[in-house]
Amino acid sequence: MKKTIIETRGLTKEFKTERSVDNLSISVQEGEIYGFLGPNGAGKSTTLKMLLGLLQPTVGSIKLFGQTLDGNHQSLLKNVGSLIEEPSYYANLTGYENLKLVQRLLGLPEENIDKVLDIVNLTPHKKKLVKQYSLGMKQRLGIALAILKFPKLLILDEPTNGLDPAGIQEIRELIKSLPQKYGMTVIISSHLLSEIEQMATTVGIIHHGKLLFEGALSELEDEERYLIRTNDDRQASFLLMEAGFQLELSQDILLTHADKVMVAKAVKDLVNSGFAIYQVQPIRKSLEDTFLEMTTGKGV
Ligand SMILES: Nc1ncnc2c1ncn2[C@@H]1O[C@H](COP(=O)(O)OP(=O)(O)OP(=O)(O)O)[C@@H](O)[C@H]1O
Ligand SMILES: [Mg+2]
Repeated sequence: MKKTIIETRGLTKEFKTERSVDNLSISVQEGEIYGFLGPNGAGKSTTLKMLLGLLQPTVGSIKLFGQTLDGNHQSLLKNVGSLIEEPSYYANLTGYENLKLVQRLLGLPEENIDKVLDIVNLTPHKKKLVKQYSLGMKQRLGIALAILKFPKLLILDEPTNGLDPAGIQEIRELIKSLPQKYGMTVIISSHLLSEIEQMATTVGIIHHGKLLFEGALSELEDEERYLIRTNDDRQASFLLMEAGFQLELSQDILLTHADKVMVAKAVKDLVNSGFAIYQVQPIRKSLEDTFLEMTTGKGV
């Protein structure tokens, strides 16, 4: 059985005027890439900071690797690498020198430096001053610093912020390789579904500090509708409604909550009543639509 690497129960953080994280219970399994999704201000960074012991929860508990994170963080956080908000580095040093500093500070093997430079594709630029790095190179250096100790758990807070599509794709591929190659478990936050979609094995969706959904993205995908075009859509709609089919309010005939058997029956009913069928097509609600509906504040 897979181990649970992160488990929060009722995690809550209140600042003076607001509750930023509200009764949040998430669980992240070993080897997963867990996408922590939510719009700006949802409470992602606040949650990740609590996981790292950088902020004290108001209420609730956190377990890392099955052990409660309390006063004594050191032994648990030894196995955790992180990149929260902006990466921190010395702009007047080279990429290599930045890594060297952290390697010495943490007492890590020297060979890790070249390994991580290679993983993030910075080897050709390792002798350049960081202030001369592009944004994408800086982000990759941030990830290199986070994985320098080859942690069991990697916590990344919006690591692709500000990158162009090619940069996003490069980082996505890099992150995807980490669980298989190095046995890491990754939690990565983002406000963009499209960025997480192709990378995460599980997602947690957070809005106003609350968890709205946790599971595989495919579970959100199953809302399927069927579009039917006939020689007289208006009349055909009446007939289908009379026959008890559920239709979405629309100019077109959109059959909802229908499986294949029901679609076949609808078509048969229409043909038997003399309608000509021009088209029958399944229409998936895009994940983006579902995500937007969940996080545009309605009813939450
Ligand atoms: N130190 C603080 N003091 C007061 N309020 C805070 C503090 N840190 C965060 N907040 C508030 O908590 C809420 C959640 O902030 P948080 O940074 O966790 O959101 P986020 O999901 O990371 O957003 P973004 O996508 O913009 O990074 C915000 O309303 C923010 O103003
Ligand atoms: Mg944030």
